[in-house]
Amino acid sequence: MKLLILGANGFIGSHASDYILKHRPDWRIAAMDLSDGHLKDCLGHKHFSFKKGDITKERTWIEAQVKECDVVLPLVAIANPATYVKNPLAVFELDFEANLEIVRHCVRYKKRIVFPSTSEVYGMSPDIPYNEESSRLVTGPIAKERWIYSCSKQMMDRVIYAYGQHHGLQFTLFRPFNWFGPRLDSVWEEGKASRVVSQFLSNILHKRGIVLVGGGAQKRCFLYIDDAIRALASILDNKNGCADGRIFNIGDPDSEASIAELAEMMLYLVGACPGYENVRSQVKITTVGGEAHYGKGYQDVDRRVPDIGNAKKHLGWTPSVSLRDGLRQTIAYYLANRPTA
Ligand code: UGA
Repeated sequence: MKLLILGANGFIGSHASDYILKHRPDWRIAAMDLSDGHLKDCLGHKHFSFKKGDITKERTWIEAQVKECDVVLPLVAIANPATYVKNPLAVFELDFEANLEIVRHCVRYKKRIVFPSTSEVYGMSPDIPYNEESSRLVTGPIAKERWIYSCSKQMMDRVIYAYGQHHGLQFTLFRPFNWFGPRLDSVWEEGKASRVVSQFLSNILHKRGIVLVGGGAQKRCFLYIDDAIRALASILDNKNGCADGRIFNIGDPDSEASIAELAEMMLYLVGACPGYENVRSQVKITTVGGEAHYGKGYQDVDRRVPDIGNAKKHLGWTPSVSLRDGLRQTIAYYLANRPTA
């Protein structure tokens, strides 16, 4: 099988590339990204060809690669709430517009597409858990610009689904629920714009305060990247067409924690690492309002639990890494990969 991965150097792309080269010895990957810093185990592998480039500029190369491959995995997207509020048009242009052209290539050349949707499409749906086929997708008013990501992704889900129904596009949509692990975001640079696990880790390692947006009672279900990639690999395997035309929530309903609990757990786990024993007393936890932290276009999700019945039934997949173990491995990775001055 020849797979085209766009955004191969990102969090999902780099872990997927590592896994495939290790566990699918007869697959070949053609890959593109702006940089290659997370691909050191892939570059030079005889089944991995990499082109450094921007998907919005390398359009001829992408079209030629889509023609040649069997499956396309377009992972290039902005997936960070701080940017949804600060630069919503960039989210629309990249996540929707740039990817639409790639979806259309798949239709034209009759290629299978495996596309990342998101848990955010459920928005503030009151359902617990969120079901792919029955939950309503509920977003906020237009001035709450955070929802441009959810709406861009939802629109793409609908476009892909319609191409599937009316033009025979072979597709699978997967919805990550707060995947975390090594390479999620950079933790060694100072800043306040990362997703929560890497943001808290960055704060703790720099011994800066942690801020709980809106008080920290909101909950997420976290999924460790190794579990997530096993699910994605089963989708790509598509044994007997088990993933065709389906949408899969990929998350762990048993790894739910409030954001305040997450902060405490991370402080405890980092505190068990040499050199960080006093971190619990050094890092203050305070509360800030959502709009004060992210900007006036922010609105939060209180609780987000995936129904993973579809993934269990059709992919034979269940998560196996606990939140605590996943965090421990993530912390160990970042400590082992501390940049030298
Ligand atoms: C995320 C992102 O939109 C995407 O990465 C992704 O599509 C999706 O959800 C997912 O992975 O399922 P969200 O969970 O809100 O959205 O993003 P985080 O930045 O990880 O924040 C989680 C919670 O922690 C939010 O309630 C946020 O307000 C809070 N938070 C974040 C803090 O309390 N303090 C911080 O410093 C950062």
